[in-house]
Amino acid sequence: MAKQRVLTGITTTGTPHLGNYVGAIRPAIAESQRGELDAFFFLADYHALIKSSEPAMVHQSSREIAATWLALGLDTDSTTFYRQSDVPEITELSWILTCVCAKGLMNRSHAYKAAVQANEENGDDSDFGVTMGLFSYPILMAADILMFNASKVPVGRDQIQHIEMARDMAQRFNHLYGDTFVLPEAVVDNVAVLSGLDGRKMSKSYGNTIPLFLPEKKLQKHINKIKTNLLEPGEPKDPDSSTVFEIWQAFATPAETAEMRQKFADGIAWGQAKKDLFELINTQLAPARERYEAILADGEFLEAELKKGAEKARAQAAPMLAKVRKAVGLAAFQ
Ligand code: TRP
Repeated sequence: MAKQRVLTGITTTGTPHLGNYVGAIRPAIAESQRGELDAFFFLADYHALIKSSEPAMVHQSSREIAATWLALGLDTDSTTFYRQSDVPEITELSWILTCVCAKGLMNRSHAYKAAVQANEENGDDSDFGVTMGLFSYPILMAADILMFNASKVPVGRDQIQHIEMARDMAQRFNHLYGDTFVLPEAVVDNVAVLSGLDGRKMSKSYGNTIPLFLPEKKLQKHINKIKTNLLEPGEPKDPDSSTVFEIWQAFATPAETAEMRQKFADGIAWGQAKKDLFELINTQLAPARERYEAILADGEFLEAELKKGAEKARAQAAPMLAKVRKAVGLAAFQ
C-alpha cells in the first residue's frame, strides 16, 4: 500500500522558538523518522512576502528554519524538504486555482476579515494595508497542497479554515474539469501549546518567545525572564498555573515531571526552578545547537539540501501541472 502523503509548510518569518519546536517541529521530525508517511515539508517563503517586506529578514528566516530542521535530524532522503519558491509550478497552479475560486470564499477568510475589522475599529478605510497577497493567500496555500495530492495536512487550529478552502477549490476544479485533485484534510494534533515569557501563548507576534537555539548564556537569561509570582522559597507553588513548570513538562520525562511537581509542592525557589529548567533544556538542545551553528554557516550545504528537495518536488509537480493545464484547455497544438 502506498504511504499516506502528508504535507505542511512553515512560513519563513521569524526565528524558530521553543513553542514551534514542541508544537510542530519535534512531532513532525519524530513522525518522519518512523518512516510510515510520505512527508513533504517546505519553507513557505512566498507566504512570507505577505507578512514582511524586509528582504533581509525573509532571507535570514528561511536560512534559520532550514538549518533548524536539518540540525534536528530531518532525513531529507526519506522526506521531501524544499523551498516553495524553488518550485515555480506552484505559482502557476495558484493562478489556475484563482480562476476557480469564488471571491466570496476569500471574503470569508479569517485573516482577511481580521484585517478589515482592525481597520474599521481604527476608523480607516476597510481595505487599508490589505494586499491581494493577504486576500488570496488561501489560494496559494491550496496550490501548495493540491499540487502534491497531499491527503493529510498537519496544521495549527488557525489554519483549519484554509484547508477547508483548499478542499473547496479542489472540489470545484474536479467538478468543472474532471477528477484531478485529492481532497485534503487538516490534521490538528493535540500537541502542547507552550506559554511564553509573559504567560500568554508563545508567539512571535507577542514578542514573548524563547528562541530555540540561543547561545547558552542567552538561553539562561531568557529563562530567568519567565514571569512567576511573588511566592517566597519554602512556600508551596502551583505547578499547573506556572509557565516554568509547563515548559519543564514539555522537555522532561514523566518521572522528571513528577519529581518537579513534588518540588513545587515543597516550595522550590523560583530561581532554583529556573536553573533546573535551564539545565534540562540546555542538555537536550546542546548537540543540535552545535549542528545548527555549523549548518547555518554552511550556505553550500543548505543550498544542496534544498536543491535536492526542489528536484524531488518538481519531479512530482511538473507532471501534475501538465495534467492540470491540459484539463483546462492549455495544450499544445498538434
Ligand atoms: N499558512 C501556513 C501558516 O501560516 C503555512 C503554510 C503555507 C502551509 N502553505 C501551507 C501549511 C500548506 C500547510 C500546508 O502556518
